Amino acid sequence: MQTIDRDRLADLMAAEERRFTEANPRSHALHERAKASLLDGVPMNWMVKWASPFPVFVEWAEGARFADVDGHEYVDFCLGDTGAMAGHSPAPTVAAVQRQIARGITTMLPSEDAVWAGEELSRRFGLPQWQFTLTATDANRFALRLAREITGRPKVVVHDHCYHGSVDEAFAWLTPDGRVEARRGNLGPQVDPARTTKVVPFNDAEALERALAPGDVAIVLIEPALTNVGIVLPEPGYHEAVRRLTRETGTLLLIDETHTFCAGPGGMTRAHGLEPDMLVIGKAIGGGVPVGTYAMTEAVAARVRAAVTVEDSDVGGIGGTLAGNPLSLAAVRATLGEVLTDEAFGRMIPLAERWETGVNEVIAATDAPWHVTRLGCRAEYHFRPTPPRSGAEQWAAGDTELERYLHLHALNRGILLTPFHNMALMCPATTAADVDRHTEAFAEAAESLFG
Ligand SMILES: Cc1ncc(COP(=O)(O)O)c(C=O)c1O
Repeated sequence: MQTIDRDRLADLMAAEERRFTEANPRSHALHERAKASLLDGVPMNWMVKWASPFPVFVEWAEGARFADVDGHEYVDFCLGDTGAMAGHSPAPTVAAVQRQIARGITTMLPSEDAVWAGEELSRRFGLPQWQFTLTATDANRFALRLAREITGRPKVVVHDHCYHGSVDEAFAWLTPDGRVEARRGNLGPQVDPARTTKVVPFNDAEALERALAPGDVAIVLIEPALTNVGIVLPEPGYHEAVRRLTRETGTLLLIDETHTFCAGPGGMTRAHGLEPDMLVIGKAIGGGVPVGTYAMTEAVAARVRAAVTVEDSDVGGIGGTLAGNPLSLAAVRATLGEVLTDEAFGRMIPLAERWETGVNEVIAATDAPWHVTRLGCRAEYHFRPTPPRSGAEQWAAGDTELERYLHLHALNRGILLTPFHNMALMCPATTAADVDRHTEAFAEAAESLFG
């Protein structure tokens, strides 16, 4: 099996950086100008993570494509890290937003679209009671608060190497000797996360059993497959064990479908018949318009109603003035009703299969020690020859230099991958030709490394 020649990789990267800088003078100039008013020249700090020496500045984005200010057009497999899984500016969402924007943007009163959204989300995910936020982070935060309140228990359990948005309790990981500590990069934690959180490896039911045994855990917050450290799929029986153990110990189970929505119209919850007590989803459901949501069973809803008094409902730590606004809900109705439909998933998933097949063929042809994992309409290559079983295994296979080279190589050939991992997501507007364009560029990159 092949290994990476680091000197060769450094030379290849330097050549791609030169090529990028020469081809993008207007983005370069905008970035230099932005440094005077935006920290590091970007509107949000994670935008420094792109593999290019400076980010490309976007002129327009539509469907599976966008163009930068230097006139290059790209196939977008990042899709706003799932925020644009419906494709950029899908026509039904744009029309609904345009209609609503002239009829009231935020009112602090419900609209009929909110009712439609609750009904449709119930149909898809099976939980009956829904609440809306502006982000998936908020939805997770609120669900954790409610869980602690109604169970009277202090702790939450998360998976090692999880990501659920900027949720304090989830910024914890396991040390090699099995202690919980603030994960690398955790900025200014308000308390040591070991006080709030227990962390268990993905696919490790025995560790979960030990964590739940003392009876001090309010809720287990999980993605049904890890997606943010790279895709790690559940082993057969894992979810059954999670549900059995949580039920046996009176612990609530919260499934975060924000990324695993890629598995199908009702996420992995529907595809795998999962039975969470609470569920969170955000990003894609508004077609890019900010919105998140959390759901609960009737049993949890009854306990929430008993816990939250009307007098205190606005100061209990759950809310957001703009949450549930009519603009977001109009976007959800159009996006779920007309864009991310059952039929659209029927087209998106085979495209991810095509991506998986193409990349696997390149890996086999070049004898690269890599492999591909796919979850519905999302697929990703990992720098290890076999699928990871846990987040820690996947993390250990990380290779920042290699990842940055492959991403910049792709970008220079008109293809955008997510900066946080080697992920490609299909939207309803993605075509087979788009997928093949990536496969060709990937083959060229693999050849440059191993040929
Ligand atoms: C699984 C999961 N949950 C929640 C979030 C938070 O979403 P947002 O940043 O929109 O709040 C993310 C973001 O990547 C996520 O991947």
